[in-house]
Amino acid sequence: MYLDELDRSAWVQLGSAATDKRSGLRYVSLCSVDTAGHPQARLVVLRRVETAARTIEFHTDTRSPKWREFAAYPFATVLGFSAEVQLQLRLQGRVRLHGPGSMLATKAWQNLPHWTRVTYRGGPPGEETDCETPEELSTCALGDDGEGQSVFGLLVFKAYHLDCFQLGRPANKRSLFAYDEAGTLVSGRWVNP
Ligand SMILES: Cc1cc2nc3c(=O)[nH]c(=O)nc-3n(C[C@H](O)[C@H](O)[C@H](O)COP(=O)(O)O)c2cc1C
Repeated sequence: MYLDELDRSAWVQLGSAATDKRSGLRYVSLCSVDTAGHPQARLVVLRRVETAARTIEFHTDTRSPKWREFAAYPFATVLGFSAEVQLQLRLQGRVRLHGPGSMLATKAWQNLPHWTRVTYRGGPPGEETDCETPEELSTCALGDDGEGQSVFGLLVFKAYHLDCFQLGRPANKRSLFAYDEAGTLVSGRWVNP
């Protein structure tokens, strides 16, 4: 496979993960650096991909540590693995925050189902709660789903580099790609796996 085909195929995989709940790339690790300079990682749902711009959208609570981390230091790594196609994708880039009231967050919120909306109704992620049992906690989170909109935000990750690791026989293959500001592929090369 030629390098540009491989790049295209990697982005097709990412694009289909946004709509296919069974895709291995549906849940990816989104990695940040916290204010102490320590690496942080968490799983997030890949919500939308714009291949031409090389952007990937994630939804989150604007009270979460990751929101503050990206506000302070916007560089991120996104890591995913599809067992189905035996492909690891490691993307490096920058995150832009689109908070409550922004056009993107408002539009995304309108398309969220009720059960996803209510997940934004609870207290700030990671903070101690007054609820004493998990049952109580889930009751606290139920109610008018509109309330969560004031803390709902979008993280839009823009990739500048992609490290593509394809498991296979007789040999694994690894390639590195770079994109410019417009999202155009500017370089691709094979490297030792
Ligand atoms: C499968 C899975 C999917 C998740 N998807 C999201 C998501 O799309 N957005 C999000 O903010 N947190 C999501 N989470 C929770 C995060 O992994 C994380 O625990 C939480 O957002 C707090 O992260 P932070 O403290 O680093 O900000 C998901 C967790 C799991 C297990």
